[in-house]
This record gives sequence, structure tokens and C-alpha cells, in this order.
Amino acid sequence: THGDVAKGKVIAEQVCAACHGADGNSVASANPSLAGQHAKYLESQLKAFKSGERKNPIMLGMASSLSDADMKNVAEYFSEQKLKPRQANDKALLPAGQKLYKAGNPVTRVPACMACHGAAGKGYPAQYPALGSQHAAYIVKQLNDFKAGTDRKNPIMADVAMRMSDADMKAVAEYISGL
Ligand code: HEM
Ligand code: HEM
Repeated sequence: THGDVAKGKVIAEQVCAACHGADGNSVASANPSLAGQHAKYLESQLKAFKSGERKNPIMLGMASSLSDADMKNVAEYFSEQKLKPRQANDKALLPAGQKLYKAGNPVTRVPACMACHGAAGKGYPAQYPALGSQHAAYIVKQLNDFKAGTDRKNPIMADVAMRMSDADMKAVAEYISGL
């Protein structure tokens, strides 16, 4: 069953817009854009914030005030918004970032991100989030969070991030932000 977009819009405009943009295109680089993201993924993250499995003090507060139905509705609303394309900031990092994204690194055994997040960065519903046109700084923080395993626990992404250097993360994040 799908969420109610009209009800989701009210929540988005009244509560989430300040940080994520009313249409899900965020301006500040710490706040992820939500536009066009798979609804199931958005819902799963809201549940994870509420239960404390994914730790973020701001989003704990936000998610705690949402019912299961609210989560479904607001996730549906954001998933239907149009993600604005973004240009990478640091173009010098793009070749290295593209290589890692598309082919991984056989030496350090980083898998190709493309396998799960798609060549165009659109991911695959419901489990694999879209990454394209996301803020690079947000991507780097998530990779570090997966690597540390304290604020964000996911066995697949922990294994990926564990194999990445800071330079790998920065390069792949720049590439992803321009996808
Ligand atoms: C992350 C939804 C309100 C700040 C997220 C994520 C979702 C979400 C689904 C995870 C996105 C992903 O994994 O790609 C919402 C909804 C809101 C809301 C539905 C309204 C009910 C806010 C507000 C703020 C905020 C008002 C700022 C005061 C953040 C930040 C993150 C985040 C900083 C990143 C957390 C991290 O680094 O892990 N939000 N949000 N959100 N949100 Fe919100
Ligand atoms: C989530 C990056 C490879 C499966 C994420 C997120 C990022 C990311 C930044 C969080 C998205 C968000 O918060 O909106 C990457 C990069 C990769 C890579 C840079 C390559 C170096 C893979 C591979 C798989 C995978 C190969 C599958 C085998 C997942 C899954 C999630 C995720 C399942 C969602 C985790 C959750 O529910 O919290 N990835 N990824 N990723 N990725 Fe990857």
C-alpha cells in the first residue's frame, strides 16, 4: 500500500522543509536531499531514527513525533518530488571517483558501488538507496558512520566503508554528487 501524498505534503511543509527543502532538495550540505528517493528506504530510515538504531539527535526528535502512517505518507511525498541535478564541486577528483564507483578497487577489495546503487546512481527499490545528486559532505559522513558502526549500522555498507581510505571517500562522494 502507498502513502497519502497530500497528507505527507503537509508534514513536509510544516516540519521537514526547514532542513530538507519543501520539495526535498536541501541546500545545506549536512542535510540530505530526499527528493526522488525510494519511499520504502525513506520510511526505513525514519523507523531506524525513531528506534535509535540510526543515531542522530535531530532526526530522533523529528521521527519520534511521527506515527507509522505519517512516516509512510511523508516518505511517499518526498519520493515523488523531482531531484534537482547537481554539479560536482571538485572536478579534479572525478576520474578517481568514477573508477571506484564503476569498477571498485580489486587491491583493497572495495566492490563497485554501481552494483547496488546503479550506473546512474538511482539505486534499486526498495533496499538500495539512490545516491545521485546528493551532497558530497553528507555522503562522506555516511561512509564514516558506516565505517565506525556507532551511529549507523549496516553490515553490507560497513564492509564497503571499512575498505575505503579518506581519499577514496572524498573522490567517490564528489563523483556521486555530480551523477
Ligand atoms: C536525515 C527525513 C526533518 C535534519 C534524514 C533522513 C530522512 C529524513 C529520511 C535520512 C535520509 C537518507 O538516509 O538518505 C526527515 C523528515 C522530516 C525531517 C520526514 C520531517 C518530519 C528534519 C529537520 C532537520 C533535519 C527539521 C533539521 C533541523 C537532518 C539531518 C540528517 C537527516 C542533519 C542527516 C543525519 C545523518 O547525518 O545521518 N531526514 N527529516 N531533518 N535530517 Fe531529516
Ligand atoms: C547505503 C555509498 C557500495 C548497499 C549507502 C549510503 C551511501 C552508500 C552513501 C547511504 C545513503 C543515504 O544515506 O542516503 C556507497 C558507496 C559504495 C557502495 C560509495 C561503493 C564504494 C554498495 C554495495 C552494496 C551497497 C556494493 C551492495 C552489496 C547499500 C545498502 C544501503 C546503502 C543496502 C542502505 C543501508 C541502510 O539501510 O542503512 N551506500 N555504497 N552499497 N548501500 Fe552503499
